[in-house]
Amino acid sequence: MLTGTGEIAAEGGAVPAFNVIQLEHVTAVVEGAERAGRPVVLQISENAVKYHGALAPLAGAALAAARAADVPVSVHLDHATDEALVEEAVELGVPSVMFDASKLDYEANVAATAEVVRRCHARGVWVEAELGEVGGKDGVHAPGARTDPAEAVAFVRDTGVDALAVAVGTSHAMRTRDAALDLALIAELRAALGVPLVLHGSSGVADEDLVAAVRAGMTKINMATHLNVRFTGAVRAYLAAHPDTVDPRRYLAPGREAVADEVARLVALLGGAR
Ligand code: G3H
Ligand code: ZN
Repeated sequence: MLTGTGEIAAEGGAVPAFNVIQLEHVTAVVEGAERAGRPVVLQISENAVKYHGALAPLAGAALAAARAADVPVSVHLDHATDEALVEEAVELGVPSVMFDASKLDYEANVAATAEVVRRCHARGVWVEAELGEVGGKDGVHAPGARTDPAEAVAFVRDTGVDALAVAVGTSHAMRTRDAALDLALIAELRAALGVPLVLHGSSGVADEDLVAAVRAGMTKINMATHLNVRFTGAVRAYLAAHPDTVDPRRYLAPGREAVADEVARLVALLGGAR
């Protein structure tokens, strides 16, 4: 059933959130969550919207899949820098958004985020924002950024955000799972802030460190690249073994199955973490 990211977070456990860039991701993530019997978030990034040329087709598919699911499923707009896209997501019935003004300086980030929060809250939409930019969005591996706890407290107070993405040692788009998490900083941020914390770049984090991050205070665990590694690996293996294939369903199905298997495993892992 379709639910909100805030509702899943309010249950008190970890909130697994996986990026979906095509229909096969949507069905695989829902299938994996159903096998694990736990809630999940389907995330659509601004980059995925650019790839499709519009939000509505993929968001419509994700919302439909969420409504039909046997477990609570939320749909979330991820890393939106365009305020018009946030408005469009709200209009479409997407229950939560991440507004990412982390590239702006602090004052401009606060002003832009507070305005988005005001408009979203008027429509019942949950808002995540980012402070202390998690690196790697431009293809540059940059794990050194850190969110300052005092600044984070002021940011949450001055913007009214519902959740905060924090920089604690991860970086986007890692293909190896060896990021060194700053668990002490996660615990400090958890103690200082009254809103759920979001870990971006979770593909770079090993299983045991994902569990440790949740135990230290992380709530929403965002993962994209790791599932693409699984998806593309399975497609590549199928095509290598069946080079004459032309029907896309033949090679997309193993990709979808590989993602469903890994989502089921990760959702169960995170479900037992807190
Ligand atoms: O917002 C999405 C996540 O931060 C995904 O990052 O591709 O490194 O797992 P990742
Ligand atoms: Zn991210």
